Amino acid sequence: MTAKPVVLVTGASRGIGAAVAKRLRDLECRVSVAARDWRGDQTRRAIGPSAKNYLQLTGDVAHAADCRRMVADTLSRFGRLDALVNNAGILDPLARLADADPEAWQHNLTVNLTGPFYLAQGAIPHLRSTRGRIVNVSSGAAVKAIEGWSAYCVAKAGLTHLTRLLAAEEPDITTVALRPGVVDTAMQAKIRKEGAGAMAAAKAAYFHQLKADGRLLDPMVPAGKIAWLAIAAPPDLTGEFLDYDDPRIGNVQGDTV
Ligand SMILES: NC(=O)c1ccc[n+]([C@@H]2O[C@H](COP(=O)([O-])OP(=O)(O)OC[C@H]3O[C@@H](n4cnc5c(N)ncnc54)[C@H](OP(=O)(O)O)[C@@H]3O)[C@@H](O)[C@H]2O)c1
Repeated sequence: MTAKPVVLVTGASRGIGAAVAKRLRDLECRVSVAARDWRGDQTRRAIGPSAKNYLQLTGDVAHAADCRRMVADTLSRFGRLDALVNNAGILDPLARLADADPEAWQHNLTVNLTGPFYLAQGAIPHLRSTRGRIVNVSSGAAVKAIEGWSAYCVAKAGLTHLTRLLAAEEPDITTVALRPGVVDTAMQAKIRKEGAGAMAAAKAAYFHQLKADGRLLDPMVPAGKIAWLAIAAPPDLTGEFLDYDDPRIGNVQGDTV
């Protein structure tokens, strides 16, 4: 590829998404970043205020029209699309099934599963022509039944299977799902703060212990893997659900966000 790849990353205002944007900018990719609210904006701090080839988009992946606009604005700024990173995600409701608010439960599926569908659908015609890639940021929760996280677990299981469907239907696009590990972000802070009421006591204590022991991953660790998958994943990985430390994934270097 002669032109630098164009990558659209959702949920890129903080955490893993901000780190992915930094990794991609270190590689001189052209990057569109999307989130609902940029007031905290770790991304701009990480990659520098005057970064060229950087487009910041405000939108909600729960809304089909916003997702269409994210793709369209990326196309009109950069003229092509090489990869989509479906990273935006929420954990709520943190509640046992019997107590969960049905609207909040449905909203989780809309953000974590339907949003990636909206974005993939909008991106497919463009990714076909570039023989591009989709990276869906899934979770170990896709295959584990974690008490108190039912909507999140079901949505991530759906996202992982959506990955396989995309692989089956779109042979010109390489689509993978990734489990990023347990990562030191706002989502983990929320689990420590609010998880105890909904989760089994031992599981809630486990997340506190990971933080206390310094065993949470820096977001730059999975971000390097996600950036590599977005610009270099080979076609034979399509449909796979990969752990962040799978030896088949390459890496890219960079500093901490
Ligand atoms: N941290 C972990 O240990 C871990 C483990 C496994 C999987 N993951 C997955 O990794 C991804 C990133 O998580 P994180 O830990 O970096 O979480 P985070 O720090 O909470 O960041 C989530 C990002 O998603 C955006 N977002 C949330 N709802 C959105 C919506 N409706 N529309 C557009 N953007 C939205 C947030 O920005 P706004 O709120 O401003 O929109 C933010 O930029 C998620 O898919 C998560 O499920 C994380």
